[in-house]
Formats: sequence, C-alpha cells, structure tokens
Amino acid sequence: MCGIFVYVGTRNGIRIAIDGLKKVEYRGYDSAGIAFIEKGKIVCKKAVGKLKNLEEKLGDETATTVIAHTRWATHGKPTEENAHPILDAKGSVAVIHNGIIENYMQLREELEREGVKFRTETDTEVISNLIATVYKGDLLKAVQEMMPLIKGAWAIAVIHKDHPDECIVAKNSAPLVLGIGVGETFAASDPNALVHHTREVIYLSDGEVARIRPQGAELFDAEHLPISKQVEQIKHSVEEFSKGQFEHYTLKEIYEQPQAMRNAMLSRFFEDYGTVALDDLFLKPAELLAVKRIVIVAAGTSLHAGMIARYMLEEISRIPTSIEIASEFRYRNPIVEDGTLVIAISQSGETADTIAAVRELKAKGATIIALCNVQGTTLTRDADYTFFLRAGPEIGVCSTKAFTSQLTVLALFSLMMARLRHMSKLEGKEFLIALEAVPEQIETVLAQAMAIQHLADKYAHLNDFFFIGRRYMYPTCLEAALKLKEISYINANGYAAGELKHGPIALLNPHCPTFALCADQVTYDKIISNVLEAKARHSPIIALAFNDDERLHTIANDLILIPKTRDEFAPILASVVCQLFAYFCAKKRGADIDQPRNLAKSVTVE
Ligand code: F6R
Repeated sequence: MCGIFVYVGTRNGIRIAIDGLKKVEYRGYDSAGIAFIEKGKIVCKKAVGKLKNLEEKLGDETATTVIAHTRWATHGKPTEENAHPILDAKGSVAVIHNGIIENYMQLREELEREGVKFRTETDTEVISNLIATVYKGDLLKAVQEMMPLIKGAWAIAVIHKDHPDECIVAKNSAPLVLGIGVGETFAASDPNALVHHTREVIYLSDGEVARIRPQGAELFDAEHLPISKQVEQIKHSVEEFSKGQFEHYTLKEIYEQPQAMRNAMLSRFFEDYGTVALDDLFLKPAELLAVKRIVIVAAGTSLHAGMIARYMLEEISRIPTSIEIASEFRYRNPIVEDGTLVIAISQSGETADTIAAVRELKAKGATIIALCNVQGTTLTRDADYTFFLRAGPEIGVCSTKAFTSQLTVLALFSLMMARLRHMSKLEGKEFLIALEAVPEQIETVLAQAMAIQHLADKYAHLNDFFFIGRRYMYPTCLEAALKLKEISYINANGYAAGELKHGPIALLNPHCPTFALCADQVTYDKIISNVLEAKARHSPIIALAFNDDERLHTIANDLILIPKTRDEFAPILASVVCQLFAYFCAKKRGADIDQPRNLAKSVTVE
C-alpha cells in the first residue's frame, strides 16, 4: 500500500519523480524517499511525513535514473530509516517496495547468520540484501534469482550502483505498470502517475520482470524467458487527474457524480424494453437464470454499496443474497453450492482482502463478477467478468463517486436479473426512468451545498454522531458514518434505527446529534418513532427526507430535503448530502481531506 515511481531517461529525473510521487501519494503518505546514482554511489534522500517534507530536503541534484517511493508503514514505524528506498548492508543496491514479504523474518534470520547487519525494521531490507548476496555483475539475474525466495504480495524497483542506466522492476500480486516514452521509460504503481509523460503503458503480470532503460523495456516471464507484451493506451485525459477549480479532489469528485452516474449507465440499458445489457457479461440468459444465490464480497465503502445492493437483489430480483466482509470471509470455509454467483466490489481492484476472498470462492467453483473502477487490476484479472464503473480516476482517499457509480451498476444488474425472472417490461421501464432521473436530482442536491455547509459549521465542533436509518437507509447510514469518521475524525456510528433502543440510545445527549436518514417510504412511520425516541433523549435531530415530507419540519432541529425518487435510489441522493456534510465538517475542523491521517487509498495488505 505504497506508491512507486521510477524514471530512467536522459532528462533530470528528480523533479519528474517527485511529480510522479504526488500522483501516487494517495497510496501512502507517512514518509517518502528517492534514490539515484552519483559517481558510482547510491544517493538516498528520505523524509518522514508528506512529500513536501522530502521536497524541502532536495537541493539542485540531478539524475537520469531515479527510484521514488511514498510509504504507508506496515513493518516498522514511519521513520526516516524505515522509509524507502532501502539499501543493502554495503550500500550497493537500493530497493523500493509496495506490499508485504510474509517470510521476511526467516529470511532476515538467515541473512543475519551470514553476518548481514540490518539497519531498519522493514521487510524490504531482506530484498536488497538478498539481491546483493546473489549479485554477480548482472542486476537482472540477481533480481530473478531473489524472486523465488520471497513470499507475499509485492512490487519492487531496484537499482545498483554499477548500473547507472537501468532499473529492474518486478511484481507479484501488487500493481506495477510501465510507461513507454521517447528516450525515457517509467514505472509506477498507478498509470495515472504516467499520463503527463506518456499514454503508452504495459501492465506487468505476476512473476514478470522488466529491465528498464532510456531506450525502452525488456520483459521476461517467470521462467526468465524474454517476452513481448501489448502496449496499451491510457484513456483518461490529463484534466481528469487535476483538481481544476476545486479546493480538494474529494470535493471535485463529489461534484462529478452526476456525470459519473451517466457514464456508468451509458449504453447499458434499453428503456423501451425496460431492460439492461451489460457489456462484458458474456453469460447467456440461461446461465443467469441458473443463478440461485448471490454472494457479495467487498470492504469499506464498497461493502456498503454491496449491502444496499442486497436489498435490491432480494426485493426486485428475488435472489437470495448474502453480503460478506472480505477480511472475515477469507478465513471462513465458505460453502459454494451450484448456482452461486459472486459479485466482488472494489473501486481500486487491488484490495487484498477482497482479492483473497475471490480466490477462495473461485477455487470452490463460483463464477466471479467484479465491479471495478480501475482497469487492468488484479481483481479484474481474477474475475470471470468485470463491469467497469467508468467513474474516472478517484484520487481523494475517501470514496465518493465510485460509491454512487457502484450503486448505479448494481441497480442495473438487479434490474437485469429481475427482468430475466418475473419483472414486467412496464415495471422495468419505470425503474429505468427513475434511475435516469437521478443524475439531475444529484445536481439539485449539489445546489444545496451552501446550506449543507452551514449545517456542518453548526455541528462540526461536536465529537459524536449517530446516523440512523431503516431498510435502504441503513447501509446508507453506515456509509455516512464512515465518511464523517474518516475525513473529519468525528466519532460517528451508523445504526439500523430499530437497534437504537437495544443499547446505543444510552449514548444520546444534547452533544450527540442524531442524523436520521428518513428517505425510505416503506419504513417512514417507523423511523419517525425512532427519531422521536432520540429527541426525547435531548439529542439534536438532523433529518434527511424526501421533498414532499410533511412531518419532520416540526420534529427535527434541522431538515435537509432531497428530490423524491424510488427507495432503491434514495441512497445515492442521501449519500451525496452526507458526503458534503462530512466534507464541510472536515474543512471546518481543518482536517487533511484528500489524505486523511493513517489511511491510504488502495489497501493491498491484509
Ligand atoms: C472509504 C474508502 C474505503 C474503501 C475500502 C475498499 O471512503 O475508500 O473504505 O472503500 O478500502 O476499497 P476498494 O473499493 O478499492 O476495494
């Protein structure tokens, strides 16, 4: 869960590498470092904290081969020593590494027995020392010899003091992409970091190694045989990676949701027939009809999207659906019966827990559909079919537009399954018409941003919140609470409103507001009773309801109205309100919104 950027060319690569690191900084930002070769020696510059601290340490150094890293600590505290690049004991080899070496303790002990002195607490140090130990003049060979010795998920870039014009990169279960320029070659954890320099990229597969030089990349498979791979084009524009007029990526991404949702729906349905045709799903109708059970696996915000989808899949498609926390599921012994379809949801496509759960399910014979925003990721390669979200790059660490795009694609999928079973064309048409209206309804919600900011200003000083809701609004509450927690560091609980009286109501007081999401028509009367219970405990009430609401204005201290839609789509509109609320609370509290403390965008470790 770190960011890698490599430059090998003829220009001064230091500035290029720092700019590249800024694009992968979302992957980890507790320390950063670069290494390059100067007069036959490796020079390493490192700093704890954000990238700007590293920038401040740099002078007018120049180098044409540079490896650069931004870290999210796993083994060892975020100190300068533990920051990458990590050198071997003799200072000949420098390594940057994303991932975890599971057998590093054993390797370290063996190396220590051979007299190698370790200087850091990292698992990475075994890599640089192993390479140095087996090195006999050919860096590529040394890396290839080292690779079978390490276990885990990793991507690495390696330089050697005696090879000033080359860098060896390799990967196993962690992302790494090469960028092919003119007279210069790049490597990065994310193609987004390359788009300013080249659109031509090569995705490395597990076990593959590349020797990159200014004139290009030579590729080798796990058996060390030379291979050639297809050069792919990055489709996103440079603007998609910039903040534009917005103060934060997170805010930009919240505002991009109407368009992201339109993209997610584009050419995927036929309104006249009230049905859906999902590209890349090559399952025949008979195979889809044979689905008897759906298992959704995901983590974090993607898990919440899955929880909302469960209501849809059971209610409109009538398919028994279970939703599984990926990190827990992988340690169960799941029962996979005939007719089990798995939906793995992941914005990044690199979440280790979700991938592990998918592999377990696949090994047991389940068919896997991935819902993913990023192309060419591990999850998309493991899955049998992938629906891309088409939300565009999500750079803010907290997930916003990917979430609402996930809900959109899941709504289309539910409709498709429902139409194949019992739903009439007319019902399907009504469902689609309502879904098509949502992007414009999001625009109406966004137009209330100022009112939501005032509300946030009023409450942002408080340290505890409850979000309560029922049915579709329950997982929406979990997501709202997660957003508030992660970007504004306010303690927030999402609760099924009916559960409040079973314990948590004891926490309500005038300093603990209840944010009641009441935009669910089926359970409306019930949630009103829950809101009254909270009010009776002197909890300030912020209510969110449809714009035809007649009761809450006399009950709630503050009321936010959203356009009327079907209950299935209310989570999208309610979530936009809650995202804005969390954003403005975080802003008022001076938090680092795009890169909240302790977090990273892509969680490639267990
Ligand atoms: C919260 C957030 C995380 C991710 C989670 C899963 O805003 O972004 O909870 O949703 O880490 O990530 P993906 O969807 O990439 O698998």
